[in-house]
Amino acid sequence: MGLHVGILTGGGDCPVLKAVIRAVVRRAMWEPDADVLGIKNGWRGLIEDDVQPLTRMSVTGILPRGGTILGTSRTNPNDGADYPSRIRETWEKHKLNALIVVGGEGTLRAARDVWHEYQLPLVGIPKTIDNDLDGTDFPFGFDTAVNTVMEAVDRLHSTAESHHRVMVIEVMGRHSGWIAAYGGIAGGADVILVPEHPFRLSNVCDLLRHRKQQGSAFSIVVVAEDAHPHEDEEFLDEDLKAQIYQGGRLGGIGFHLALAIERETGIETRHANLGYVQRGGSPSAFDRVLATRFGVKAFEIVLEKRWGEMVSLRGNKVVSVPLDEAVRKVKKLDEEIYHVAEIFFG
Ligand code: F6P
Repeated sequence: MGLHVGILTGGGDCPVLKAVIRAVVRRAMWEPDADVLGIKNGWRGLIEDDVQPLTRMSVTGILPRGGTILGTSRTNPNDGADYPSRIRETWEKHKLNALIVVGGEGTLRAARDVWHEYQLPLVGIPKTIDNDLDGTDFPFGFDTAVNTVMEAVDRLHSTAESHHRVMVIEVMGRHSGWIAAYGGIAGGADVILVPEHPFRLSNVCDLLRHRKQQGSAFSIVVVAEDAHPHEDEEFLDEDLKAQIYQGGRLGGIGFHLALAIERETGIETRHANLGYVQRGGSPSAFDRVLATRFGVKAFEIVLEKRWGEMVSLRGNKVVSVPLDEAVRKVKKLDEEIYHVAEIFFG
């Protein structure tokens, strides 16, 4: 009979996807009659029957490299009337017995729906640089992104210092401030602005002026892509707000904040948007180990036929939680972390 397991990577990429694919394939090799089929470009591969068998040779040498050998997309399997029947055809053609879905909030939410509506036997693995999945203490991908931010903040520190400037650094994270808070704390930022705490421009400017008076001629401001000015002190007009926050793509607050800071304080201010750099590069050791543990665990959950589960890190243990629970809400920045960050403002 054999055990035929599909694996797909969906949503935004990150550096550790190759490590998790490798782990699933290597774990499968311990079973005498199991094989792994790579589904290309997220859910789209199942819809379009775009697949690739994964062997030991396909995953040799990929551990330290960024991106995914399977490609990814944001295709939602619930968005097309004929998608379920096409998915079913691909499933039957390749005699699949199980699917491992690697993704962030959107991909795993779709997995939860597919599991409920079509009873496809599947298991999820959490991957996101944003750390906004509620069902796990950490997904893989976040640690590497934070290290990239930290390195960038270190580099921008020295140029800000040389020129006696304020440097505003915009980072990703979608509606949660995890990357900004962790990257900012690790890089020694002087102000960190996150979506969970709308900010007042006057407070930011006071902190920067105060730093200058105290003898620090430069400052580093880390701002999350979805950080908003407080409604009491709006400095963006409706058009700008639409450009920065709407349409599903976030980006631009750093540029406008830098302009406003320079206008209000008279301190020369520059901005840098780290953008997609945060999704590339070689994975950190923490992420490589976590993704490897997740991949092995997910395959073992498949062997146990515990469908509709997602692997999860709780404390230092890899466990599993129902997908229902994992995607119930977006995980916002922990207040304890924000409190620590705040101690270093100014
Ligand atoms: O979810 C990961 C992420 O990089 C977010 O931080 C960012 O807002 C978004 O994806 C960008 O999405 P896209 O790759 O579709 O431009």
